[in-house]
Amino acid sequence: MYQLRRVRVPVLPRGAREIRILHISDLHLTPSKQREVAWLKSLSAEKPDFVISTGDHLAHHDAVAVVLDALDSLLQIPGAFVFGSNDYFAPRFRNPLRYLFESDSGMDEKAVHGADLPSHELAAALTSRGWFNLNDAAARTQLGGIDIELRGTDDAHLNRDHYSVVAGAKNADLFIAVTHAPYARVLTAMASDDADLILAGHTHGGQVRLPWPGGSKALVTNCDLPTWRARGLTRVDGQPWLHVSAGVGTNPFTPFRVACPPEASLLTLVHP
Ligand SMILES: [Fe+2]
Repeated sequence: MYQLRRVRVPVLPRGAREIRILHISDLHLTPSKQREVAWLKSLSAEKPDFVISTGDHLAHHDAVAVVLDALDSLLQIPGAFVFGSNDYFAPRFRNPLRYLFESDSGMDEKAVHGADLPSHELAAALTSRGWFNLNDAAARTQLGGIDIELRGTDDAHLNRDHYSVVAGAKNADLFIAVTHAPYARVLTAMASDDADLILAGHTHGGQVRLPWPGGSKALVTNCDLPTWRARGLTRVDGQPWLHVSAGVGTNPFTPFRVACPPEASLLTLVHP
């Protein structure tokens, strides 16, 4: 069922050579998810130039080693990550229908989430392999002779986002912005700094989608993003491109997807 979404994004300056970015998100790994681990391992065969993970790696206290095993070959490639709520707190059982009919945004963290997860351990391990930690942080890199700035926020779903600490006018050939939950306040702030491309996860593509003319339709995004932008590459006139990954995993207590297969995305950045 796992799918690799292939997307071309026209954001590079004229004359630049293509850059391939692998976008992964919402792994929600536990020690028992070995099929997902095997698929993640297979992605290095795509030979991306850079990897970006938009959070929710963990779903179990013992999952840090599972994530590092799944991503081992991708961690040999330059990359960056941000965290989502599931990197900080273990999942708790909740009525699965609440996923569709209630938002937990703004609720007390302990009322919604379980025990603390070893997010510091995961962050330290990923950065020790050379990936940039973009939780309310910025970084610069070069790919194919293009000067790239990366700026990210911590999880907006937990109100941990502080874009202001990395705010400022675009100052590179290419500005890629990264966040877990694509709340309007974060997208607006990134757009006002002339981000070229914003990467996010969190929505699970709606997780449950209705058949709809020309494809399918998400019912929810679990944030204030409109449902037509729940997954894939979209753009509003005059705004940055937004690529939302529908994610590879699900919360173990809501282990279903309808018309929304697990996915990663290979973004090929090109000039217009
Ligand atoms: Fe998630």
